[in-house]
Amino acid sequence: MFEDEKRAAALAAAGEILGGMVIGLGTGSTVAELIPVLAARVRDGLEVVAVATSVATEAAARAAGIRIASFADLSRIDLTIDGVDEIEPSLRAIKGAGGALLREKIVATASVRMVAIADSSKFSAALGSRRVPVEVLPFAREFVMQALGAIGAVPELRMAGEQPARSDQGNLLVDCAFAHLHDPAGLARRLSDIPGVMGHGLFLGEIDALYLARKGRVERIERP
Ligand code: A5P
Repeated sequence: MFEDEKRAAALAAAGEILGGMVIGLGTGSTVAELIPVLAARVRDGLEVVAVATSVATEAAARAAGIRIASFADLSRIDLTIDGVDEIEPSLRAIKGAGGALLREKIVATASVRMVAIADSSKFSAALGSRRVPVEVLPFAREFVMQALGAIGAVPELRMAGEQPARSDQGNLLVDCAFAHLHDPAGLARRLSDIPGVMGHGLFLGEIDALYLARKGRVERIERP
């Protein structure tokens, strides 16, 4: 669903990619629409190197002919383009339904500019319709589940069939429902304060601009 909008948003955002840039590539079905667009420009002579936020994105980008660098060797990225699960007009977002939230947060924070690409289903007046994914060290599973409950979450361990789902780092993923998200910044601090939480899907200050496809056009919204 929403494939045309995802493609349109990805195409519009790709216009920000310039020769010589180090590009952060996010994860998910919207970024999957970006990869062939970028690959076509690489075939036409664009020289860029990309950092991937997941094993899946790295494999897809390599297969498409995009040069990949290891983020372990870098400290700065020029431009990152990534999808979101939910985003509000102030450009605060929830990410991580694809399980790549930790690498996505690191790459977004290392980026001079971070651009989100979204179909119309992702846009909401205020955050709160999606659960907040949390990446958890397996060693601390029960302790973290209890601690999440204590700060008001209804935590659910994400499963992949019969087994707990694992991030690319081998960590667990816990999806947290909250009765409301009135104070996302306070919640982000409380989540980060729990030992054993490796990362969370609240992206409150990382996103500089949004390419939002809706009603047959793509709108660019810059962070106020
Ligand atoms: C990956 O962990 C996520 O943060 C994705 O970026 C997000 O879920 C958007 O994915 P889709 O583009 O598939 O909706």
